[in-house]
Amino acid sequence: MSHLAEPYRIKMVEPLVVTTREEREEAIEQAGYNTFLLPSQKVYIDLLTDSGTNAMSDRQWSMMMLGDEAYAGSVSFERLRSAVEQNYGFPFTVPTHQGRGAEHLISKILITPGQYVPGNMYFTTTRYHQEAAGGIFVDVVMDEAHDPTADHPFKGNIDLAKLEALVAEHGAEKIAYVNQAVTVNLAGGQPVSMQNIREVHEFCQAHGIVHWSDATRLAENAYFIQQREDGYRDKSTREIAKEMMSYFDGLTMSGKKDGLVNIGGFLAMRDESILVKARELVVVYEGMPSYGGMAGRDMEALAQGLVEALDDDYLAHRVGQVTYLGRRLQEAGVPIVTPVGGHAVFLDARAFLPHLAQDEFPAQALAAELYVESGVRSMERGIVSAGRDENGQHRYPRLELVRLTIPRRVYTDRHLDVVADAVIALYERRDEIGGLRFVYEPPSLRFFTARFEPLPAKPVDSALDDAVLSRTRLAPESVRA
Ligand code: F0G
Repeated sequence: MSHLAEPYRIKMVEPLVVTTREEREEAIEQAGYNTFLLPSQKVYIDLLTDSGTNAMSDRQWSMMMLGDEAYAGSVSFERLRSAVEQNYGFPFTVPTHQGRGAEHLISKILITPGQYVPGNMYFTTTRYHQEAAGGIFVDVVMDEAHDPTADHPFKGNIDLAKLEALVAEHGAEKIAYVNQAVTVNLAGGQPVSMQNIREVHEFCQAHGIVHWSDATRLAENAYFIQQREDGYRDKSTREIAKEMMSYFDGLTMSGKKDGLVNIGGFLAMRDESILVKARELVVVYEGMPSYGGMAGRDMEALAQGLVEALDDDYLAHRVGQVTYLGRRLQEAGVPIVTPVGGHAVFLDARAFLPHLAQDEFPAQALAAELYVESGVRSMERGIVSAGRDENGQHRYPRLELVRLTIPRRVYTDRHLDVVADAVIALYERRDEIGGLRFVYEPPSLRFFTARFEPLPAKPVDSALDDAVLSRTRLAPESVRA
């Protein structure tokens, strides 16, 4: 069954650069085997992220011409505020330069040092800001989210028993807020059901706990609810998104995903006391409350993007395209996270490269090899992204993934065929793919700037011994040189 063809046509093109295998081998070596460090001019199909890589519509470009660049009282801010209220139902909006700007502010506002911040898995910048504000992140996502093949329609759901246990153990006053992401990026773009949002809302209300949403990909989440949850088949994604948001006290938003823009974000809320604090802080860290780090024209593009992202045809194509790539890989036996989520297909690097120990960085190695094979850029989401714990040891996440993230309205299905063919070719010669080791490891958010080199080749039957050996080799002191 094929999905809806693009519900738009192409009005302007951006030429792509095609490279040779030799050029790519040189480029990845110079990039320290880290796809973040590749120059984009050496990339053919860029699936590093769906963040800020979206194509804007003719209307969004037109609205940019109407940007009001006034330092205070900008009309463009009012347009953004009103789009947020109309689509998500929150009366108050504080713009920020992107999602993490909003995370920074809300973490400072809601967290007292020593408090717990339960969430349905972590996102890197979100957890960083929570911890920087003195919070203790606790993962309360359902167990299935950590299992790449567990079949559940809403793998991003919060496990209420885990949340209840946390509150019972520490008391509601020790909980800063519950952060519920829709969808859950690091679980594979897995959605959260309306029922789960409602239940968490009721639980939080009963205990006087603030219920916040990371609404970064809420439009894709609304589409999954429409397709999978009883009672929502006849509702529009716009209605569904508004109902979803009606259960939250507020949200942080990265406009760079389901805002269909290249930059921008915001905080939105109902509570005026949070608004007052957010306005105080935004001036110091982002900009005046009426622009918060965005130009007037960026606020115009975002206001229009919020509306376009909740179009049923757009979403059917968008999510359909991601599913199509997933299906092609599954048909060839490539291990991927299932069910396929909303913004990306995640390769299960552990199952793809079972001969590598996790601290030989299988996902990092696979991402580098995919680039050399095809010029396709992807991203590691495994042990490198997870970083080190307070004792300086690697965190060993259960999920060791390579993310093939699909930008919105940018690539055609033909591009996705090129991607699928390249991944399948790699899978067929997977035994030849070796591991990596650090040559430079930065102290935090290491996946952005770390550099690696290939491990020396080893005989296949020594893989088990090496799992032990490589742990010694990668002791923290020796890698921080
Ligand atoms: N929350 C989620 C779930 C995200 O995926 C991101 C960004 C953010 C918050 C932060 O937003 O980038 O605007 O500051 N995710 C990007 C990605 C970077 O590639 O997944 P931001």
